[in-house]
Amino acid sequence: MEAAPSRFAYQSDVLSPAEKTEAYEDAIRQLDSILAGESHTILKMATINCVLREALPYYFWVGFYLAHDGELVVGPYQGTLGCLHISYDRGVCGAAARTGSVQVVPDVEQFPGHIACDSRSRSEICVPVHDHAGRLIAVFDVDSTEPGSFDAVDEAFLSRIMRQHFSR
Ligand code: SME
Repeated sequence: MEAAPSRFAYQSDVLSPAEKTEAYEDAIRQLDSILAGESHTILKMATINCVLREALPYYFWVGFYLAHDGELVVGPYQGTLGCLHISYDRGVCGAAARTGSVQVVPDVEQFPGHIACDSRSRSEICVPVHDHAGRLIAVFDVDSTEPGSFDAVDEAFLSRIMRQHFSR
């Protein structure tokens, strides 16, 4: 008998824009319902990681780096061991924190200063997370083992999720 496929197998399936949209809309419905009335930041981060990783099969590593004492420190995540500290002047996450804008990296090997926490990561998106006063509180980071996994669909939905749950 064949083993049932694991939801946490290290596989990456890039979905079509329509399939991505459907998966994100489903995840957003779940998150809006599960997190209604919740205010605890870490609770929300852990739940967002779980729901998105279940919904999007190309998510290999998903998590938050917290803005703390002038650097990024690893927060709630799912995946292989993440780097513990990232300075604002390094990597894709540092660029997101420094510029305050979403970083979509189709090929991490072409990104100057990319930090390889796991050499299987090939593409990545980093979304800055702001609180209601516009202060940077974290960077949300997703890695895929396939090049080119992230596009404008991921950027739009992830920006919306971060605004909805942390900026209001
Ligand atoms: N690749 C990131 C570091 C974090 S890990 O991918 C988990 C970067 O260059 O910022």
